[in-house]
Amino acid sequence: MSDMSTTRPGPSPAPPAQPEGAAEESLALDKTVASWKEDFNSKPHNFEPRIVAFVCNWCTYTGADLAGTSRLKMAPNVRVLRLPCSSRVSPLFLIKAFQRGADGVIVSGCHPGDCHYSTGNYYTRRRLAILHDLLDFIGVDVRRVTFSWVSASEGGRWQEVVDETTARVKELGPLHRNSTGRVGTGHAGTA
Ligand code: FES
Repeated sequence: MSDMSTTRPGPSPAPPAQPEGAAEESLALDKTVASWKEDFNSKPHNFEPRIVAFVCNWCTYTGADLAGTSRLKMAPNVRVLRLPCSSRVSPLFLIKAFQRGADGVIVSGCHPGDCHYSTGNYYTRRRLAILHDLLDFIGVDVRRVTFSWVSASEGGRWQEVVDETTARVKELGPLHRNSTGRVGTGHAGTA
């Protein structure tokens, strides 16, 4: 699993042009996408979706870890990026993930009322509602995005989220991009 919180670029003399932390996260996203085996989708008739999961450190990451230590079998298509809180997920992260090779995205955090920062996940929920409209507008099927609550003790729930998302995205097929990585068709509801 990649860890955004431990990925650090070298010392930077100039102030960052992006919001604090965005550069590290962008770097972690690139590393994650690059970690997929090059031949992962080499056989179109045997499409295996690439899915990026943005998860909070306090609940879902621990739940995903529990699923692993409990040896629960699940689809190997998901790469996890750990964030301090699900509220750190900007809609831009999802767009970038799609542009850089993901066919699906999961955003998961603590259950309502359990956020380590009290109300972070409420912000996430509102933000992703807007993101759905944006994806629909640019022509990316919103079923490519899963939003879920998974607590630290719900390894089995994480397994379900991974398997259900993988199966759904597999059915939708690869996300089409043009040569510049641009996604979407400009027609709402199609991918
Ligand atoms: Fe888990 Fe905020 S810390 S959603």
